[in-house]
Amino acid sequence: MFENLQKSKQYAAAEAVATVQNGMTVGLGTGSTASYAIELLAKRIRGGLFIKAVASSFRSEDLAKKLGIQLIPFSEVDAIDVYIDGADEIDNDLNLIKGGGGALLREKILAFDAKEFIVIADSSKRVENLGRFPLPVEVVPFGLELTVKQLQKLGCTISLRVEDNKTYTTDNGNLVIDCDFKKIEIVQQLHDSINNIPGVVENGLFLKTMVTKLIIGYNNGSVEVNSARSYQYA
Ligand code: 5RP
Repeated sequence: MFENLQKSKQYAAAEAVATVQNGMTVGLGTGSTASYAIELLAKRIRGGLFIKAVASSFRSEDLAKKLGIQLIPFSEVDAIDVYIDGADEIDNDLNLIKGGGGALLREKILAFDAKEFIVIADSSKRVENLGRFPLPVEVVPFGLELTVKQLQKLGCTISLRVEDNKTYTTDNGNLVIDCDFKKIEIVQQLHDSINNIPGVVENGLFLKTMVTKLIIGYNNGSVEVNSARSYQYA
């Protein structure tokens, strides 16, 4: 049966937003699923919920402001209580590929700090092995050709991200190289090898140790909630 992915994303987002409590500092993710969470959070705020928020991209910041969510500077963040974001691929162990929307660095900074990192997605994001989705790698513009050569040595086919016929630039003024590995065998090893290349700022592999909860939504309104420790690919 055809699955309405937008509805599935909304149900996953709703389940995550329901866990947010008064007084929390909430990290806002980036992408279509995270945007549903931001909209639902705004709805709860209109209903009396009080939270503070930080955003992982200019896009999410703009959306939050438009919806009346109070954003605070990082100097005022004691700790992010919960970070809610989508993913491009999720494996059996809860390793992720993120950065399809180009916000991987800011997303990782927030997710790393958060006491709880809730991943929200529709079931199409679940895979047995990461790598069919090209892995986004944020790189500095200087020496681009040299950085690309080092990435290629790791066994991928690369493409420099382009948007609207222009080289894509991240919110941090960097570039994104999408690295097609087809199948990633040892996630941690690849993560470390990429980040060891000078010129690389960050890569889109989010290791399983970061994720505390995965929520998969289905278009019939049901959700599957898996805590990181007990989660198994179904
Ligand atoms: C943005 C991301 C997104 O979370 C990821 O691309 C999933 O997007 P969507 O929720 O639109 O499917 O990492 O950088």
